[in-house]
Amino acid sequence: MSKVTVVGAGNVGATCVNVLAFRQIADEVVMLDVKEGVAEGKALDMTQTATLLHFNTKITGCTNDYEKTADSDVVVITSGVPRKPGMTREELIDVNAGIIKGVVENVLRYSPNAILVVVSNPMDTMAYLTCKIAGLPRNKVIGMGGTLDTARFKCYLSKALNANPNEIEGLVIGAHGDTSMIPLVRYASYKCRPVTELLDKDTLDKIVSDTMLGGATITKMLGTSAWYAPGAAAAYLVEAIIHDEKKVIPCSIYLEGEYGQSDICLGVPVLIGKNGAEQILDYHLNADEKELFKKSAESVRVTNAMLKDLGVI
Ligand code: 2OP
Repeated sequence: MSKVTVVGAGNVGATCVNVLAFRQIADEVVMLDVKEGVAEGKALDMTQTATLLHFNTKITGCTNDYEKTADSDVVVITSGVPRKPGMTREELIDVNAGIIKGVVENVLRYSPNAILVVVSNPMDTMAYLTCKIAGLPRNKVIGMGGTLDTARFKCYLSKALNANPNEIEGLVIGAHGDTSMIPLVRYASYKCRPVTELLDKDTLDKIVSDTMLGGATITKMLGTSAWYAPGAAAAYLVEAIIHDEKKVIPCSIYLEGEYGQSDICLGVPVLIGKNGAEQILDYHLNADEKELFKKSAESVRVTNAMLKDLGVI
């Protein structure tokens, strides 16, 4: 029996629960929120889709009752506020850091063995904060950003190639930030052919910039941040863990010297299986990519430093 908790029943959290239930990724999914009745209401609504969508996942909603989350195998943390048009993810730190700290402490009280998937923004800093508070082995704290950014990268590549996105390989590493993520064009391919042979430089440059601004573009359109792809990306990671898929998924992990960085959570290619982040893979970056990765780390360190000022670590 597998049990997954999703903390936060907002757009991202509820979408994640919906995907987890619909695809029967876990036997039981608990959704928790601070707002009275919201998680219960959404859980009941989703439960009533069971015969329409042909699933049999148990979905429970609760208001701040962490006891109901007890013994979860995986806990997805989506709590906090989303960004508004014109805001960066980093600007959310003041509000979200305190929220995440409380959530992590409560989650671990009832599920000390859970693997934690961090979705809240600024994601790399929230994953770092979670590592610092949780004191878990690093394989058990996974930041979701690169999973989502990679899905967006493949989406834009598929549009340019007029191709099935599922036949595209590629990855985005570095921070989950508008100016600091690194779509690795050199490693992207379609039907085993490098995309650099299939698309011209201007098109590839546009795909890179569209990917980097993927979240901001949607935030501008909607007035709040995206949820379908972020929720599905979190569920995708949960699926890889619960089903022990051993898939290579870019995600934000606490680095101990890999890619030249330590004491930071940053997006790198990771083998995901039942133990969470089972192995960090070394993709041999070239000099330009190494420089971008270093700059990306520098930008995350600036945001991480604010955690001390806020008194949360
Ligand atoms: C995004 O990029 C919410 O950070 C998330 O859409």
